Amino acid sequence: MVNYKDLGLVNTKDMFKRAIAGKYAIAAFNFNNMEQMQAIIQAAVETKSPVILQVSSGARKYANQTLLRYMAQGAVEYAKELGCANPEIVLHLDHGDSFELCKSCIDMGFSSVMIDGSHFPYEENIALTKKVVEYAHQFDVTVEGELGVLAGVEDDVVAEHHTYTQPSEVVDFVSRTGVDSLAISIGTSHGANKFTPAQCTRDANGILIPPPLRFDILEEIEKEIPGFPIVLHGSSSVPQDLVAQINHYGGKLVDSIGIPEEQLRKAATSAVCKINIDSDGRLAMTAAVRKVFVEQPGEFDPRKYLGPARDTLKALYKLKLENVLGSAGKLAK
Ligand code: G3H
Ligand code: 13P
Ligand code: ZN
Repeated sequence: MVNYKDLGLVNTKDMFKRAIAGKYAIAAFNFNNMEQMQAIIQAAVETKSPVILQVSSGARKYANQTLLRYMAQGAVEYAKELGCANPEIVLHLDHGDSFELCKSCIDMGFSSVMIDGSHFPYEENIALTKKVVEYAHQFDVTVEGELGVLAGVEDDVVAEHHTYTQPSEVVDFVSRTGVDSLAISIGTSHGANKFTPAQCTRDANGILIPPPLRFDILEEIEKEIPGFPIVLHGSSSVPQDLVAQINHYGGKLVDSIGIPEEQLRKAATSAVCKINIDSDGRLAMTAAVRKVFVEQPGEFDPRKYLGPARDTLKALYKLKLENVLGSAGKLAK
C-alpha cells in the first residue's frame, strides 16, 4: 500500500473548492507516455496551474499502471526541478469501471479515482459508487461519480445518444454515495467527432456549428446541489487548425468537431471545476508528427518527431489553462 501523500501528490478536494469559489476550472489531461506527461507538467509549471494527470483503462493497457504511477511521482519532482516549489498534481483514474480497478489504483498511490457506473441501472450505480467511496475515503482519496451518459466512445463502451443527467436525481445520488464530485451529461461527448453534420447548423461560410451545451440542465443541477463540484467529460474543442494540418499532411479526418471554447469558458465559471481533455492532445501530437514525416522524410530519430509533438502539445495546454479554464496563477502557494 502506497499513499499518494508520500509521493507528493494531492487529492482534488481543496483545488475544486478554490476553483468553484474563483470561477475557473482545473484541467484533467489524459496521459499515456513520457512526452504527454512532460508537456502537461511544463504547461502547468509555466502557467502556475494546479493540474490533474489522468489515466484511462486504455492507458493502463498501453503503458502499464505501475509505470504510469512512477511517472506521476516523477512528475512532482520534475515540476520542482522546473521551478515550482509546491506543485499541485493529482493522479486520477479516468473512467474506472469496477471496484477492483479503483482499489488497485488507490493502493498504488492514485490520489483520485472515477468510478463510472453511469451505464448501469441507477441503483447499481449507487451501490458500486458507494463501495468505492467507502474504500477511497479511508485513505483520503477523492472519488468522482457519473450520472447520465455521454454520446460517443468511452474505452469499450459506445453510446449513440446522450442521456442527459436528470437534475431530480443528483441530490439522492450525491448524498447516498458520498462522492466528492459528479460528472454530468449536458451535451459533450468523447472523441474528435462529437456531433454529426446532421446535428449541426452551418454558418455563412459553410462551417459546421454544433448544438449548444444544455446550460439549462447545468443550472438546474447547480440549484439542487449548490457549490458541489461538477465535472465535464468530452470537452475537447477539436481545434480546426490542427484538423486542417493533419489533413494537409496526409491525414483523413472527416467532419471532426468539438465543443466551442467560449462554451467551455462559460462552464468554467460555474460549479464545473474539472474539464477533461484528451482528444485535443491527440490531434496536436498527430499534426506535429505528420508534418515532420512529410517535410523531413529522411528523419528516423523518434526524438525528432516526438520532440516537436511535445512542444505543440505544451503550447496547446498552455492556451487551455490560460484562456479557457482560467487556472493560470491559481496554485495555493
Ligand atoms: O474518456 C476517454 C479518454 O479519452 C481515454 O480514452 O481509453 O482511448 O485512453 P482511451
Ligand atoms: P475528449 O475526447 O473530448 O478529449 O474527452 C476526454 C475525456 O472525457 C476523458 O475522460
Ligand atoms: Zn471521459
